[in-house]
Amino acid sequence: MPLGFVGFRLYLVLLAGTLFGHSSTEELPADHQESSVLKPTVLITILARNARHSLPYFLGCIDRLDYPKDRIAIWAASDHSVDSSWAVLQEWLRAVGHLYHSVEWKPMEQPSSYADEHGPKHWPDSRFSHVMQLKQAALRAARRLWTDYILFVDTDNLLTNRQVLSDMMAENLTVVAPMLESKSLYSNFWCGVTPQGYYRRTPEYIPIRKRQRQGCFAVPMVHSTYLLDLRRRASRAVAFHPPHPHYPFDVDDIMTFAFSSRQAGVQMYVCNKHHYGYLPVPLKPEQTLEEEEESFTHTLTEALISYTVEPSRYMNTLPREAGKMGLDEIFLINLKRRSDRRDRMLTSLAVLGINTTLTEAVDGKALNSSQLQAMGIDMLPGYKDPYSDRVLTRGEIGCFLSHYNIWKQVLQQELQQVLVLEDDVRFEPRFCSRLVTIMENIQRVGLEWDLIYVGRKRLQVKEPELWVKGVSNLVHPDYSYWTLGYFLSLNGAQKLVQAKPLNKMLPVDEFLPIMFNKHPKHEYMQYYEHRDLRAFSVEPLLLFPSHYTGEPGYFSDTETSTIWDDEAVGTDWDRDGAKHRRGRDTEDVGFLPAARHSRGGVPPLSASGNRDEL
Ligand SMILES: *[C@@H]1O[C@H](CO)[C@@H](O)[C@H](O)[C@H]1NC(C)=O
Ligand SMILES: *[C@@H]1O[C@H](CO)[C@@H](O)[C@H](O)[C@H]1NC(C)=O
Ligand SMILES: *[C@@H]1O[C@H](CO)[C@@H](O)[C@H](O)[C@H]1NC(C)=O
Repeated sequence: MPLGFVGFRLYLVLLAGTLFGHSSTEELPADHQESSVLKPTVLITILARNARHSLPYFLGCIDRLDYPKDRIAIWAASDHSVDSSWAVLQEWLRAVGHLYHSVEWKPMEQPSSYADEHGPKHWPDSRFSHVMQLKQAALRAARRLWTDYILFVDTDNLLTNRQVLSDMMAENLTVVAPMLESKSLYSNFWCGVTPQGYYRRTPEYIPIRKRQRQGCFAVPMVHSTYLLDLRRRASRAVAFHPPHPHYPFDVDDIMTFAFSSRQAGVQMYVCNKHHYGYLPVPLKPEQTLEEEEESFTHTLTEALISYTVEPSRYMNTLPREAGKMGLDEIFLINLKRRSDRRDRMLTSLAVLGINTTLTEAVDGKALNSSQLQAMGIDMLPGYKDPYSDRVLTRGEIGCFLSHYNIWKQVLQQELQQVLVLEDDVRFEPRFCSRLVTIMENIQRVGLEWDLIYVGRKRLQVKEPELWVKGVSNLVHPDYSYWTLGYFLSLNGAQKLVQAKPLNKMLPVDEFLPIMFNKHPKHEYMQYYEHRDLRAFSVEPLLLFPSHYTGEPGYFSDTETSTIWDDEAVGTDWDRDGAKHRRGRDTEDVGFLPAARHSRGGVPPLSASGNRDEL
């Protein structure tokens, strides 16, 4: 040992003895409490490429992580972007940098694309290789900083669970991913691998993805968002770049990482004990940035059904311009006391760029029979709900009146075509562009229409419905329930109001099929003379209920105490849930393969065209 070093050590001991010598042998007071332990340190890797649309929301989730920011280091890079993602990211870094332990920033304004790529969603080898090098650089930075962990998270993943970092650390695993959810079965883990190293569907996958099995599961691949514990000895051997000498597969960042982990004896895990967040289904190589934006927007509206997701407040994001899709008005029906639904819908609509007119629903609960009498409201003789065998509820009356008031408004203002939306809907991917295309086609062929369902429940499923000639994605609807959303023309509004439905009322979604002469009960239909409503339906449907029977937030329809003429008992509009859900709907649409919903829709496929063929 060099002499100088010994001397230095001696000096330290002497110094410590001088400063603390007197207390070092004394007993600590009985009530002495050691101070609490600081959280582990973590480096978060942010690689932004053509991510302008998702960055504000992605970073909003990072802002809201329930984790001390001074224990987090940020490593951020932006490159090969046509949308100046680097500027957006830089704005955020400038605003928040001082909150974090440290920030390392690697912007690359040029070039804006890879020389050999066909489009922004195409992954040539040069791109894989570059991403691998960036991730390796982040890993090097974390090791240099001696952080305890490194978190990789793609810039279109939405970590809605604020506890996600602490939760993953608590699992005490070397590589662990919080399971992220999507519209389809797509997620950020694999349960099986092909001999070529690509994704293979295995029977274990779906029960984990649907959270029928909950816990942490050893899997051969996690990607997109995962945490690596750098305090583990084995973590020293994992790498993205250069690939392991025995690496046999195609160049791919997630595959090289998984391979090197396996070689190092590191098992990957995915955890689904809680809901942690969302990710969009990757696009195909030939798809465009606009399509990517639509896909992300849809992921965002899905997340918004259950969580608060806001753009980072550290950046100036202009609200998206909101339009009316070429219509005269878009009405959103909302009951004043359901502000939760209102807020969610208004946020979703803003994200989708839809400009709506909020319409206060009629509160059935507040109606008593003298008021009903004064309005001339009476039930259709002999009406019985086919599932519960009860008569009309006050909630159903309120719902009917809410729609009826809009029909009258359409007449009064002579609006040529409108869209009516209820407030508990979830939107299908590419909602706006698909609707606009259908309306353009209708206009092109000059189809005359009164009402077009956008969301409904088909009740007659034995016989297929007939396609409308010359217009794609439009059918002649048979008997249907629900009024989640529909287009209405001035003519249609006229027919509905002229039918004078108030004094022979039944639920509004039973009334509509009567008006287009498709109600199976002729004893109901006989009360309405003119049943010539020209009704159509978008197919596949573009709106679904946000909650289904049995899901949290769903209100049961086993109501017995809400008989409409019982003065003492009110009907909760909440139970319009009951009306919507008549027909005992337990289908979990969220997990159906996209194909079942969208003819010619986006099949879930990975960015690299190989990560997932669900
Ligand atoms: C975490 O795991 C390591 C070994 O894998 C073990 O030694 C340690 O006790 C574990 N820590 C906790 C808190 O369980
Ligand atoms: C919605 O449209 C109205 C005009 O119809 C306009 O005044 C308003 O600014 C629009 N809102 C948004 C958010 O674009
Ligand atoms: C019905 O409600 C109206 C308005 O709230 C009220 O004025 C009226 O007294 C009520 N009638 C009965 C019988 O409770």
